[in-house]
Amino acid sequence: MRIGILGSGLMGAKLGTIFARAGHEVTFSYARKEAKLKRLARAAGGGARAGTPGEAAGASELVLLAVHWSRLDDVLAQAGDLAGKIVVTCSLPMSADDTGLVIAHTNSGAEALAKRLPKARVVSAFGTVPSEVLFGVFAARKRKRRPSLVYCGDDKRAKKVAAGLIRDTGFDPVDAGPLKIARYLEPFTLLIGQLAYEGEGGPELAYRFERFSA
Ligand SMILES: NC(=O)c1ccc[n+]([C@@H]2O[C@H](COP(=O)([O-])OP(=O)(O)OC[C@H]3O[C@@H](n4cnc5c(N)ncnc54)[C@H](OP(=O)(O)O)[C@@H]3O)[C@@H](O)[C@H]2O)c1
Repeated sequence: MRIGILGSGLMGAKLGTIFARAGHEVTFSYARKEAKLKRLARAAGGGARAGTPGEAAGASELVLLAVHWSRLDDVLAQAGDLAGKIVVTCSLPMSADDTGLVIAHTNSGAEALAKRLPKARVVSAFGTVPSEVLFGVFAARKRKRRPSLVYCGDDKRAKKVAAGLIRDTGFDPVDAGPLKIARYLEPFTLLIGQLAYEGEGGPELAYRFERFSA
């Protein structure tokens, strides 16, 4: 699949690299220096490229949105028309100083994004784990017990594609339902962040949901 990365920071750089190593055609975009994008593309291999957000989005069936919430207007303006595309967002609607969610309870960042892009097929995924765990999960993908990754969205086919990408990354996809479930998923991420960055044992943290019957 052709994948455009909009935001090549902690999340976008790692996920883009993993997607390329899993066999996808990746274009990295949106960093402050073009040299960084080129370096990422070279290191990822698999024919990965560096480009502008317009090039990354234009050539792709799926884009990963991985920018700070405060950069949303800018990156969307540069990406151009996303109609018909699958937009996987890991971006949380955090305040400028990253102390809390600026959208919550009766709305979510993912829903606000979908309202901005009514013709795109928005899926919320990957935002519930810290970037530090991504390479480790990918490296352990052959193991039987995989960590979970919750995702949600309203478009059935887009969700199926996103679930495939979640599997490629080494997680076990857990369909949490329609996009409005991002209202639960986004604050859940703050808990994960608390455990990853303030808890003991380091930020390489993933989670697994299990069902038990007596
Ligand atoms: N980090 C995590 O573990 C984590 C986990 C879950 C969810 N998230 C969410 O994922 C999203 C991305 O987080 P992140 O940690 O990957 O952010 P990040 O490291 O700050 O990456 C953001 C990207 O945007 C680029 N950028 C920022 N300002 C720019 C500008 N003026 N012009 C061009 N490019 C610009 C950065 O460029 P440079 O590369 O030059 O800095 C970087 O490539 C956020 O919404 C965050 O809440 C993050």
